[in-house]
Formats: sequence, C-alpha cells, structure tokens
Amino acid sequence: MLKASRSKGPWVQEWATVVSHDGQGDVYKLVLRAPEVARRAVAGQFVEVRCTAGRSLVVDPLLRRPFSICYVSGDTVCVIYRVVGRGTALLSSVGVGCEVDVMGPLGHSFPDPAVGTGRLVLVGGGLGIPPMVMAASRAVSVGRSVVAVVGARSAAYLAGLEELRATGVDVVVVTDDGSAGARGVVTGPLAAALADGAGEVWACGPEGMLQAVKELCAGAGVPCFVSVERHMACGFGACIGCTVPRADGPGYLKACQDGPVFAAEEVKLGGA
Ligand code: FES
Repeated sequence: MLKASRSKGPWVQEWATVVSHDGQGDVYKLVLRAPEVARRAVAGQFVEVRCTAGRSLVVDPLLRRPFSICYVSGDTVCVIYRVVGRGTALLSSVGVGCEVDVMGPLGHSFPDPAVGTGRLVLVGGGLGIPPMVMAASRAVSVGRSVVAVVGARSAAYLAGLEELRATGVDVVVVTDDGSAGARGVVTGPLAAALADGAGEVWACGPEGMLQAVKELCAGAGVPCFVSVERHMACGFGACIGCTVPRADGPGYLKACQDGPVFAAEEVKLGGA
C-alpha cells in the first residue's frame, strides 16, 4: 500500500536570507536561501516562517506562519502565499537580503512517485496549486507520466500556475468564471482522467474540493492522497490546533505531524 512519507531528515530551524520577494495583487512569491531546509525537503511538506525579519529577541507576531513548499532549487526554497491577515501583511514587506527565521521541512510528504504506477494526476485548487509544483518535479524526475488539473475562482487566483507549467507536465486549467482555461471545477477534468486510466491522484486545496476528489477516486478505485490546509500554530505537534477527524473511528489526527498529506481514506473531510 502506498503511504505518505517523511522528509530526508528531521526539521531544522534556520536563518534564511530573502533572495527574492515579489507580489502580484495580494499574492506573493518568496524565495529564501535556506540550505538545510532545502536539502531535506520533499514534495508536500511545509515550512513555518516568522513574519518579521531580523534576530531580535522580541518577536511580534510570536507565531510563525505555515506555508507549503512550492519548489526547491539548489539551496533555496520557494513559497507562494496570499496576504490574509496581519502576519502575512508584515511578511509581505520583508525585503531582499533580510534574514527570516524558518523552521522546516515539516510534516509528511506525498508518497514516493517511483513506487506508484500509472499516470499520476495532481489536483490543485487555489493556494493548493503551489505544492503541486514540487510534486510534479519530483514525479517527472523519476519518469512518471503526470497531468495536473488546477482550478480557482478566476485567473487571478491561480497561484503557482507559471511555476507548475515550467515543470513540463501537462496542465489542465479550469476557473469558476472562465477567465482562464475552461469554465468549471477540477472534478470535471479529474473524472475524465480517471476514466482514461489514471493510476494515482494527489490533491491539495479547499476541503470541499478534497472531499469531491476523494469520492471520485474511491468510486474509480484509484489511490488518492490529500494535503489538508489548517492553521498551524506550532507546526510540530505541540499545540493540538490543527486537528483532522479520523475516518476509522473517533478521535483526531494532527495535520502538522500526521499530515498534512494523508491517504484520503484516513481522514474525514469537510464534515463528511
Ligand atoms: Fe500545533 Fe499541529 S500545529 S499541533
């Protein structure tokens, strides 16, 4: 049975230097020189980033913010994020050359793509698209056939699309309003890919989307892995603020430590 897997080593805390930091609207692409995190990271893992620069002992906000790793290039790590509150607003003003405190890589990654068989379908919704970039690169590097299905409410919300296309995989785009790709939602192209004999599906995005993906894959008998989004205060299992209901009985799993990537049948999604 395929399983979510861990990193190539334990997570580290590292002072990372901002190599580039570009915004378009409220979406920012942050590239950090973080050699130890980069060396250990595997697709599907995340980092926790302090939102203010510098090594002051007084930090505000205190809690780091979690971001999926979009890709690793040499000793750099890229994340793509949207400004949604005070923390990410502060982070968006951190300039090139500044040092930020980074912890990572954290959590379970997607499975080893060299172990699975058949065409791999990556499904990304909104800010669930960036982690599919590293997933695509990793799968391509082991010779896996890959198609990515990505969707968002409109073209402006397709974060990471350019980076995903740069991996060379086939990309199918859908948007709610038809401003990019076909008008529709990801389940349409996913159903077509499943009917075409897909061997495995990895998905990240809003929970309603993940539930729909899970149901389609279960109906087709195709293994499915989902990466769930949660507020993650600590990132390493201490605060119990990132719970996900278990599917096999009462109780909860921790998205930061047991996930964020789960086999779809392990977790209840979207209150289902
Ligand atoms: Fe603290 Fe998961 S983020 S336990």
